[in-house]
Amino acid sequence: MKKIINLIEEILADAFDNCGYDKKYAKVTLSNRPDLCEFQCNGAMSAAKEYHKAPIMIANDIIPLVKEHSYFSSIEAVNPGFINIKLNPAFLADYVNDMANADKFGCTDIGEGKTIVIDYGGPNVAKPLHIGHLRPAIIGESIKRIKRFSGYNVIGDVHLGDWGYQMGLIIESLKEQHPDIFETASLEECGVTVSVLEEVYPAASKRAKEDEEFAARAHEATYKLQNKNPEYYNLWKKIIDISVTDLKKNYSNLNVDFDLWMGESDAQPYIPDMVEMMKEKGFAYESNGALVVDVAEETDKKEVPPCIIVKSDGAYLYSTTDLATIVQRVQDYKPAQIIYVVDKRQEMHFKQVFRCSKKTGIVSGDTELFFVGFGTMNGADGKPFKTRDGGVMRLEKLIGDATASIYDKIKDRDDMTEDEAASIAKIVGLSAIKYGDLSNQASKDYIFDIDRFCEFEGNTGPYILYTMVRIKSILRKCQLDNAIDSCDYKILPAVSDSERDLQLKLTNLIELVEQACNENAPHKICQYLYDIANSFNGFYHQNNIIKEEDKERQKSFLALIILAYRILKQGIDLLGFDAPDRM
Ligand code: ARG
Repeated sequence: MKKIINLIEEILADAFDNCGYDKKYAKVTLSNRPDLCEFQCNGAMSAAKEYHKAPIMIANDIIPLVKEHSYFSSIEAVNPGFINIKLNPAFLADYVNDMANADKFGCTDIGEGKTIVIDYGGPNVAKPLHIGHLRPAIIGESIKRIKRFSGYNVIGDVHLGDWGYQMGLIIESLKEQHPDIFETASLEECGVTVSVLEEVYPAASKRAKEDEEFAARAHEATYKLQNKNPEYYNLWKKIIDISVTDLKKNYSNLNVDFDLWMGESDAQPYIPDMVEMMKEKGFAYESNGALVVDVAEETDKKEVPPCIIVKSDGAYLYSTTDLATIVQRVQDYKPAQIIYVVDKRQEMHFKQVFRCSKKTGIVSGDTELFFVGFGTMNGADGKPFKTRDGGVMRLEKLIGDATASIYDKIKDRDDMTEDEAASIAKIVGLSAIKYGDLSNQASKDYIFDIDRFCEFEGNTGPYILYTMVRIKSILRKCQLDNAIDSCDYKILPAVSDSERDLQLKLTNLIELVEQACNENAPHKICQYLYDIANSFNGFYHQNNIIKEEDKERQKSFLALIILAYRILKQGIDLLGFDAPDRM
């Protein structure tokens, strides 16, 4: 559907044209003075310069041509030259009814089926999933859903850190602890579970820093793995299996799922040809024994060092793997965009990789590469979030804490069984964590304050869900809770301010989804849902929906809150969480 703003612009554009002014001045925005009007056009102010006329004269020229238009209940010129617009309630009601009946509420199909690969999550095999992995998973999942809703063909890839020295360290330690490890059919047989693996890595990494002989053996193991020595390679596969099974469980608790479980290892086969190509075409040259590609540009304000492709000892790097992964993605999926949701401290790495891949022709001009860098989750002290004893908080513990906090709030309700309270607490707890994160602009650091995130009032996930539950409960009392997707009541022109406000806010969905999609900005969806929840609650307090005596009016109220519910539900789905029926 066309956005309301665009519909108004079309009418004004004709009027500007008919009065001899350029159509470009007919730009309309949401009003910044909602007490005076709903939309405004400030074009006369800018046109004044071109036509050497007072802005109010221009605005006054326009008004007679549009005054009687059925879209408006009032449109007027005010000093010094603004055009203030209020919609005709009948037009607004028609528009929201159309949204209610349209596919995806009339949101624009901006993706047109184009393919996007989104690289998010990025966990490292055999390292515990901790709070630092929360942001890429939550933000990436939401961006994926927003793009998919907007008509893109989206492929989400977890891009595991499953290659390199880290794996050599683990293999060497396991060999030492279980001399028969190569012979055993399954790791479980030797008692190697995921929790064992998670302890092995930090210990091995620490030891290698002090024990040269061990470090040398770990490098040797890495070398053997990378050359696909069958024993090492098979053991590696088993480690990956255990680790991935556990990761899948963890991500599924977060409502996060990936289409592809590829990793750094999958990029390795593409490296030799890629390096050869870079050398042959003269992009890569030797510098201090390493092979590098220059990626600095004249306009750089800060130095952008060359992208290192092969180290002086012949080893490949993080950048080599990322470049080869682009080769693979372009070959297999021909994406229009590749989006990386990664810690913003890796910005320079991606700048080098993107420039190098464009310069060497790994991606053509029409594949766009985006880096969505996210900020750090801090504790109340403004430093990176830690547990009370100073450790890194595991994801399971974090989800457990949020669930417990919600459970405490609802456990004493006598109309709920313990099981029901527990399952509701899980759903609401997840909303608290996800909304708490997503409501901040991704690139900003933010304070992780689980107590605040779990509150039922204020700009929180539970507040959004609480609003949905409230709507559900009204519908239940009117025997409509099972008719949310099939109710054919019509929304009538609004008579009260709060009703009008809710109708108007609902129409903003189309614009907001488009912005969130184009700007990779889930926080805009949060802000929108918060607005809708506030508008609904205003409406709810001003009108007694259940006791409304005028039955036609009551049906219209119900149709309106059903639409609000459906839009909230769509919105939380874009953020990656669900709503309970009660709470
Ligand atoms: N595993 C990496 C890390 O822990 C993140 C991977 C991000 N994606 C990528 N294509 N580099 O930092």
